[in-house]
Amino acid sequence: MLKNKHILLVVCGGIAAFKALDLIRRLRERGAEVTPVLTKAAEEFVTPLSVSALAGNKVYRDLFDLTSEAEMGHIELSRAADLIVVAPATADMMAKMAQGHADDLASTLLLATDKRVLIAPSMNVRMWEHPATQRNLATLIGDGVLVAGPNEGDMACGEYGPGRMAEPLEIVDAIDTAFEDGPLKGKRILVTSGPTHEPIDPVRYIANRSSGAQGTAIARALSVLGADVLFVTGPADIPPPAGVEVVKVQTAAEMLEAVTGGLPADAAVFAAAVADWRMASESGSKIKKTKGALPVLKFAENPDILATVAQMKKGRPALVVGFAAETDDVVAHATAKRERKGCDWIVANDVSPETGIMGGSENAVTVISDKGADTWPRMTKDQVAQRLALQIAEALNG
Ligand code: CTP
Repeated sequence: MLKNKHILLVVCGGIAAFKALDLIRRLRERGAEVTPVLTKAAEEFVTPLSVSALAGNKVYRDLFDLTSEAEMGHIELSRAADLIVVAPATADMMAKMAQGHADDLASTLLLATDKRVLIAPSMNVRMWEHPATQRNLATLIGDGVLVAGPNEGDMACGEYGPGRMAEPLEIVDAIDTAFEDGPLKGKRILVTSGPTHEPIDPVRYIANRSSGAQGTAIARALSVLGADVLFVTGPADIPPPAGVEVVKVQTAAEMLEAVTGGLPADAAVFAAAVADWRMASESGSKIKKTKGALPVLKFAENPDILATVAQMKKGRPALVVGFAAETDDVVAHATAKRERKGCDWIVANDVSPETGIMGGSENAVTVISDKGADTWPRMTKDQVAQRLALQIAEALNG
């Protein structure tokens, strides 16, 4: 499985750095090529000579090492690998990665790479449990970083709990899994996300409230399962996930064009909060205030993108999933919406302000299909996305 795979191994400064030596040995036994990178602190725990001897490769240590820059720039170094593994990953390195720092060779490589990254955290239990580390961990998972461990056990500092680096063979297993094909490998899935902005004049627009969080999480979860994702997004509050093809649009008309132009696809998920109306005609100049005369806005109906795709006679994706944002009678409205629009599944949620779902990090959904309504417990938007992605994989492979 690991034969001829090229692994860039970043070793940080921690008591578990010595286990990185065994990890190198295990990886090479399996036919992988290992290029080691040591942080300055790592050199307090392992010597460049021993690491280089075990890896059978040059050790990279310094961002400003001109010889290595001449041989291979840091950008190239970060891209030549099939996977970057950070073991041990210290609390400090996780914080740097989560923040996007690039103040030494290791952090610069991690910021410059376009490859997947797997971390094996190792730190004192209090540091691991600290909200700052947990926040950084959540950010990194959100960015698509894979995580092996940590394990629970006695620590070098005398405390007990989670924080011990995973054993080298466990890290090798996680690396193996990272190279396995996900259940959506070879499937193309289109996802719409975010609001649309419909201009009134050059400075004003109509929009729906939507952060794009749920759509972004779905695109990421599908991509993690190996799908080739086309992400069509309106102006969202958060950046699109890594590793997906992104098309940015403003209006519903542009979104429809990007969606139809992006077909064929095996599945399509419509998580965007599309504005139902646009101006019948957009004013070319700013509408001025006139005392005693309120402006009259004339609306035109926007195309229903979900219904257009769900009702396509030719080239319809095998699975079309819509969303239903409701404020009352959620299941009844969503069931009717599924029939009306002709989609296969509707993911319905209650977006009344008291639920805190719109703009929040959690969601409580009911998935409506031809089998009826399945209500999921309230969970994070990432968890909803992961569960939905797994169900999509089952439906497409079933
Ligand atoms: N949708 C779409 N194009 C539109 C409007 C909605 O693709 N012009 C999609 C959304 O992405 C979502 C689903 O249709 O998947 C339902 O959106 P929602 O706003 O709940 O429904 P509406 O059709 O707008 O119905 P209503 O406002 O009456 O509830």
